[in-house]
Amino acid sequence: MKQLAINGGTPIAAGQFIETKWPPVCEATAEKIKQLYLSREWSFNSAKEQEFEQAFAAYHGAKHGIFMTNGTVTLECALTVLGVGPGDEVIVPGLTWIATAAAVKYVGAKVVFADIDPMTAALDPAAFEAQITPRTKAVIPVHLYGGMADLDQIIAIAQKHHLAVIEDCAHMQGGKWRDRGVGSWGDVGSFSFQQSKTLSGGESGICLTNDDKLAELLYRTKHIGYSRYDQQGQAGTPPPPELLCHNYRGLAFSAQILLDQLDGLPAIIDRYNAFTDRLRELTRDIAGFRTQAPGRMASPQGYYAYGLIFDGPEWDGIPRTRIAQAIRSEGVLGVNGTYGPVYKHLLFNLREEDYRNSGCPITERLSERMLVLMHWHMNHLANADALASAIRKISDNRKELCEC
Ligand SMILES: Cc1ncc(COP(=O)(O)O)c(C=O)c1O
Repeated sequence: MKQLAINGGTPIAAGQFIETKWPPVCEATAEKIKQLYLSREWSFNSAKEQEFEQAFAAYHGAKHGIFMTNGTVTLECALTVLGVGPGDEVIVPGLTWIATAAAVKYVGAKVVFADIDPMTAALDPAAFEAQITPRTKAVIPVHLYGGMADLDQIIAIAQKHHLAVIEDCAHMQGGKWRDRGVGSWGDVGSFSFQQSKTLSGGESGICLTNDDKLAELLYRTKHIGYSRYDQQGQAGTPPPPELLCHNYRGLAFSAQILLDQLDGLPAIIDRYNAFTDRLRELTRDIAGFRTQAPGRMASPQGYYAYGLIFDGPEWDGIPRTRIAQAIRSEGVLGVNGTYGPVYKHLLFNLREEDYRNSGCPITERLSERMLVLMHWHMNHLANADALASAIRKISDNRKELCEC
């Protein structure tokens, strides 16, 4: 008789898994949004935006925060102010959301993909160094899902080769490396607050930096050339002529939502770390299965999602989509595939470009063998128990899934 729920068996986690809706909502914030609306201070470097910029930068140990429309333009602006443009190369990991690589295209530079570390799923320092050429101008390590890029090694390599470092922290709000926030280690840190993120303002993003000059240029780049100290609508002081500026301003409403969420961030991070500790412990002996490793110096690790890796020979011949379906059938929500190798995306294979064989075997392997659990399902320890029992049951009965 078949055991797995996908084949008609009884779901093992039925009634055990607790669903969380995301993004979170709160009456007190709704009231503040109403007051903000009535105040007419909706944008243009409003007090609320400044308050959030300062609070978020301080949380992550950075001197400046520059609030923007989303976490793609933050990357684009970071590249712009670091002088990256046509003729330059920028190294990005093979596994990331498409925006990391698209931002490089937006400034007219060439994307070069480097492989990832098999444990953290973030940029592999050795693979990064191997891709450096005389045209390389910058690197964008991504702190991906529930893993941090090795900032010590990546920054040391970048310094040796005089490269700029832009940390893509879209997945890592509140994560710290050696007790200091991610995003404060490179030249610029870029964050996204899109609706599914750990802190979510609907849309919006922020750049962090410790460099006064970069902060001023970032501000001008997102505010159509105005300095932070100029009056909107007045002549102001002109930006450097070579700086291409945009309107990438954020909204005070998002800043208000984020400010309120920021208060609760340490508790969220604690819960997510407790969840991953428990899941790791409960699944330690499951053959061929492992969980994504946190950053080597994470203190604490932040999470946008958590990597579940089925890469032992026991799982050969079982597609990851089938494993994901089987987990969902057992009553566990929020388990999906990864982004997949970004260099295979159509955007990077148009006209004369062909990135399909970018030589990133670990990116290919993890894209095939890793699933990710979305962060808001990690709010309850009971869900770690439910997920662990689902994975164990599937492992014990995996022959039922085999397509070999
Ligand atoms: C790794 C990564 N970088 C950048 C972005 C871009 O952020 P946004 O969607 O706010 O433009 C995202 C968004 O999901 C992301 O996951």
